[in-house]
Amino acid sequence: MDVLAEAAKLEAAGRSIVHMEVGQPGAAAPSRVLEAARRVLDIGRLGYTEALGIRALRERIARHYGAEYGVDVSPDRVIVTTGSSAAFSLAFLGAFDPRARIAMAAPGYPAYRNILAVLGLEAVEIPVGPQTRWVLTAEALRTAHEKTPLSGVLVASPANPTGTMTRPEELRELIDTAAELGIRFISDEIYHGLVFEGRAETALAFSQEPIVINSFSKYYCMTGWRVGWMVVPEKLVRPMERIAQSLYISVPELSQRAAVAAFDCREELEAIKEGYRRNRARLLERLPQIGFEEMPPADGAFYVYASVARFTNDSATFARRMLEEAGVAATPGADFDGDRGHLTMRLSFAGAEEAIAEGLDRLERWLA
Ligand SMILES: Cc1ncc(COP(=O)(O)O)c(C=O)c1O
Repeated sequence: MDVLAEAAKLEAAGRSIVHMEVGQPGAAAPSRVLEAARRVLDIGRLGYTEALGIRALRERIARHYGAEYGVDVSPDRVIVTTGSSAAFSLAFLGAFDPRARIAMAAPGYPAYRNILAVLGLEAVEIPVGPQTRWVLTAEALRTAHEKTPLSGVLVASPANPTGTMTRPEELRELIDTAAELGIRFISDEIYHGLVFEGRAETALAFSQEPIVINSFSKYYCMTGWRVGWMVVPEKLVRPMERIAQSLYISVPELSQRAAVAAFDCREELEAIKEGYRRNRARLLERLPQIGFEEMPPADGAFYVYASVARFTNDSATFARRMLEEAGVAATPGADFDGDRGHLTMRLSFAGAEEAIAEGLDRLERWLA
């Protein structure tokens, strides 16, 4: 966020900045979503909805699991949330007692540990690296639990910042191990749809016990609509409904009504994804030539995470210089990994193709 603010300042002063720090699609929401929103606005009446979300959206989300993964999900277990961000708060509050310990991979999405911290829960970061193809393994989970017992584990696949996917068989093993050890499994599936290598499987294909979290923000290009969802075990629905009622009453009705159309925009969204695919290919080809090293497999999402050890041992300063001197904004790794992130950067390829190509040219000239 600091990089974003600094980039905005430079742009206001007339500088051209290539944005490779952003974690969101550059494209507008798909046209059918926009049409649905306009129809709702023509009627004009927007009110509170059921705290769990409007029935039409919960049913459409449930149907998506059948169509996409061949998994039967009851709409009664679907909870609509204000982005996946609100789903994390609800999940942590609804599923854990105060001071519970929740494991996750490092590097990882920083909001997990921040949300846990404000809720009085403890994030247990387990370092991952090339030895395990940058994913959290069942064995590492077991070892961490034996050291100090865990109440939960959160896995994102594809992950942020690495883009690396936990393969279906590894996901199954993690879910089975968590069940055996009595650890609640939370699956962040926000980057499903944005997969370039392999196939993303939902945790619900293996068990109905995990809490599965997803969002319209990434594949569906709807970050600003603040709408996401989760699928939870039946017994957690009512407690989470009561927490949601008190915390925010309901998700904005306009976003919910529009989101019903999102699943029927495949063609448009796949065309956007093809742009990411070309950006990704450019990055994977050129970053190593420029001197970025040790990139975890960028299976999905729209990020490449790379070592900049050849240039610096302070990625925050490196990011600031990259912005000021090369006009390229990117995210220093310390945000994602407190121990090793001073040697890494995350570059997002969610931007326009010309912008990403220009960004790479600038980096090449700057680091030559
Ligand atoms: C892994 C991951 N999970 C969750 C989120 C939150 O997204 P939202 O609240 O827009 O659904 C993000 C956003 O970047 C993310 O990268």
